[in-house]
Amino acid sequence: MSPFLLTRTLPEDATDAALRADVLEGLTRTPKTLPPKWFYDAHGSELFEQITELPEYYPTRAEREILVDRAGEIAAATGARTLVELGSGSSDKTRHLLDALTDLAVYVPVDVSESALTQAGHALIEERPGLNVHALIADFTGALALPETPGPRLLAFLGGTIGNLLPAERATFFAGLRALLSPGDALLLGTDLVKDEQVLVRAYDDAAGVTAAFNKNVLTVVDRELGADFDAGAFDHVALWDSANEWIEMRLRSRTDQTVKIPALDLAVDFAAGEELRTEISAKFRKEGVRTELSTAGLELAHWWTDREGRFALSLSVVR
Ligand SMILES: C[S@@+](CC[C@H](N)C(=O)[O-])C[C@H]1O[C@@H](n2cnc3c(N)ncnc32)[C@H](O)[C@@H]1O
Repeated sequence: MSPFLLTRTLPEDATDAALRADVLEGLTRTPKTLPPKWFYDAHGSELFEQITELPEYYPTRAEREILVDRAGEIAAATGARTLVELGSGSSDKTRHLLDALTDLAVYVPVDVSESALTQAGHALIEERPGLNVHALIADFTGALALPETPGPRLLAFLGGTIGNLLPAERATFFAGLRALLSPGDALLLGTDLVKDEQVLVRAYDDAAGVTAAFNKNVLTVVDRELGADFDAGAFDHVALWDSANEWIEMRLRSRTDQTVKIPALDLAVDFAAGEELRTEISAKFRKEGVRTELSTAGLELAHWWTDREGRFALSLSVVR
């Protein structure tokens, strides 16, 4: 195979249709919501990379520390020949796994962001001439059609992105992943852990305002793709800790009474001053909760590793 293949598993117009459906559903309900996958156009993906460098955003550094320490054990426990990564973004931390997986035949990054996949894929094959990369533009919340590749397969889902799904969505998602895995395959899951509220809130409301710009980028995407007239300056970025659900919520709070027009949907959406649109949840986890969610899907937690400060965990489940 060519060392870099990019496959679109969604029809060309699926993104447009899905965005229309999500915007219509999310902005006509109370409270208003939009799913976080729409942050990630090329600019949103770049902003996310900037977030990972912020002093307040510890998850990337904490997860990298675990990967540096444990990649050898992960390689030994899985012997993976295929590494599939969901929501791979820049694949930056993944390089620690790629270094350790000495029998790897192919790396399959999966993301909704075509720009992130293309950039990461080209960089990887340049750095690693022997590596085959088969990138998939796909939505991991839908049915995933993975390419036929050699086993055992290691499915990695890093960055704490699992926390962007609601509990019921996670149950469906884990069951779908389990169905993709055969005996000998494994799941490597990154989960951010429950911790001090101030540390959590600061990670989603940084002093430089990068997360605020990332949050508002979803409005720019809706303006560009659906001809809407959202004024990002008319909304404030909000990050708060929901202690009952143990998740961070990112919201956009309308500064005034305003009406936003979305011509592609023939829709006018009223916002009252102070009304909030939820754009992301980021659930934080505890070990027993992760074990239970995995086991409900038929996956047994085999390893649980945290960084030295206990902020973030990587868990490994090997299918028997
Ligand atoms: C929080 S970032 C994490 C990126 C990277 N894994 C890391 O650990 O730094 C989430 C990534 O998942 C992708 N993503 C978000 N929702 C997705 C979906 N429904 N299907 C596929 N990719 C998605 C985004 O484009 C982004 O690259």
